[in-house]
Amino acid sequence: MCGIVGYIGGQQAYPILIDGLKKLEYRGYDSAGVALLDNGELHMVKSVGRLCELEDKIGIGCPYGMVGIGHTRWATHGRPSDTNAHPHSDCTNHFVVIHNGIIENYQALREWLTSLGHSFRSETDTEVLAHLVEHYYRGDLKSAIRQVMEQVHGSYALVVMSRHEADRLVCARKDSPLVIGLGEGENFIASDIPALLKYTRQTYILDDGELAEVTKNDVKIENGNGASVEKPIFNVEWDAVSAEKDGFDHFMLKEIHEQPKAIRDTLRSRLNDTGVVLDEIKLTHDQVKSLRKVVMVACGTAYHAGLVGKYVFEKMLRLPVEVDVASEFRYRDPLLGEDTLVVVISQSGETADTLAALRLAKEKGSPVVAVTNVVGSSVSREADQIIYTWAGPEIAVASTKAYTTQLVVLYLLALHLGNLTGVVSLSEAASLVEELKLLPSHVESILKKEHELLEFARFISRWEDTFFIGRGLDYAVALEGSLKLKEISYIHAEAYAAGELKHGTLALITDNIPVLALATQPALHEKMWSNIKEVKARDAYVMGIAMAGDKGTHKEVDAIFEIPATIPLLAPILTVIPLQLIAYHASVLRGCDVDKPRNLAKSVTVE
Ligand code: G6P
Repeated sequence: MCGIVGYIGGQQAYPILIDGLKKLEYRGYDSAGVALLDNGELHMVKSVGRLCELEDKIGIGCPYGMVGIGHTRWATHGRPSDTNAHPHSDCTNHFVVIHNGIIENYQALREWLTSLGHSFRSETDTEVLAHLVEHYYRGDLKSAIRQVMEQVHGSYALVVMSRHEADRLVCARKDSPLVIGLGEGENFIASDIPALLKYTRQTYILDDGELAEVTKNDVKIENGNGASVEKPIFNVEWDAVSAEKDGFDHFMLKEIHEQPKAIRDTLRSRLNDTGVVLDEIKLTHDQVKSLRKVVMVACGTAYHAGLVGKYVFEKMLRLPVEVDVASEFRYRDPLLGEDTLVVVISQSGETADTLAALRLAKEKGSPVVAVTNVVGSSVSREADQIIYTWAGPEIAVASTKAYTTQLVVLYLLALHLGNLTGVVSLSEAASLVEELKLLPSHVESILKKEHELLEFARFISRWEDTFFIGRGLDYAVALEGSLKLKEISYIHAEAYAAGELKHGTLALITDNIPVLALATQPALHEKMWSNIKEVKARDAYVMGIAMAGDKGTHKEVDAIFEIPATIPLLAPILTVIPLQLIAYHASVLRGCDVDKPRNLAKSVTVE
């Protein structure tokens, strides 16, 4: 949540800051601000609303300065307003701060600082940082920030700029991401890599507790004890184009269409003719044999991927699998230990709750495998073993290609572990591998039929309520389909295990209401057809999603979208694609901001 950028060098900072903030707007977009230093003068502009409103406010009189910081906000403490927007400054306007995270003891600090005579302008937790720096400053910005870090509790990625030391920016992090981009005679700071790609691919990724002093020609990093740290340069392989819309109207649509490539890239080099090659996983045969349980932990869409993972792992490992929402997991004193494999799933690798769950699992001695999309993310650095989804940058708040590639990785992992324990036979593995290889072309053929979904998207876009029903794996995908629709079109969408409808939800089925019935699991077809009959008997309009050639489902529904035939276990990767497209088009038709839905942010780095 919240995107932060900093620049110091030989160019005008303002366009670079705005450009970086545009790339980070997915992290928060309820207000924004920039501050620049020019010959000792501080220029600060802030505005509630999207970044474009800040740009409008600034107009053609853009602030000068070759050092500056910028922020795009997702409000936690204090509603979105000009005053609560970052940057925040101290009483004297000599120290300016941008921050991503939460200062948990801000109230006590604010009272203490107020008693010392500081006066606050905003309702934010962040403002205490600026006043604390002012309080501790004795001619050395870095030492003042060190003292601040000792006093605050909570999470932060912060950058401080000072009129006293205009030749540097000082940044620090704890539990929120921060990256330094290295240029020639200029350096950059950002919450995330896409903001840097246009300028550099050479980066330092800060670790928790680290602080960096960034000048135009140098970056000095210290660890939590003040000792200097020699960090390896991390070379980013994503190119700048992959973080652009590339001719599509929205990032979400582009990312939906990137799925064949993303799946191909994720499978590439991990399959041979007979099975899976997962060199990333170092679990031995004996370790896997001694496992008694698997726990999957994640948030949002990644959690839904875990729900599919449960079916797949239980089938291929014959071990019980629990799936937990990360924000619930650690507060229930979970039963963990060496015999429990914990799989954390996180596109960004920065979701605060998922990261905390990972840490708890490690503390309790469980082996942890992370599934993440971002190399160098906190999750990737802290997990024992990592499997990357090679999906490329995902910018739209609504996750699409991350989900399908997370599923691919979960299949690969289950196959690999199932092979190790012998639960999956070589011939079973070989046929699954063959089907996995076909997935990218299957997704391509679904995308070619996008037009078939437009009419249904139009129909749904006129409703305020919809239902998604399915059984088994289809239920897991129904949850993801309903999340996609609600988060970007604001249509109330409820996903139900089809057999559970009659225990209450059926009461909500009214004349012509849209119901999406997922029916890709032949073993459950007859039960599913009965459930479709139940909603049709209450006059619902049913759109079925079924595999090609499924005449039985065809007969039961009002309209149907066919996905290519595959083995039922793999169907979720295909079933979700039409659901993503329906959500996308319904959102566009309702005039919603597809890539930046209200109240949401892509990266949830606060609890
Ligand atoms: C936010 C995003 C979702 C994402 C979830 C978990 O809610 O909007 O798209 O699924 O966070 O994020 P992660 O990066 O951990 O997968």
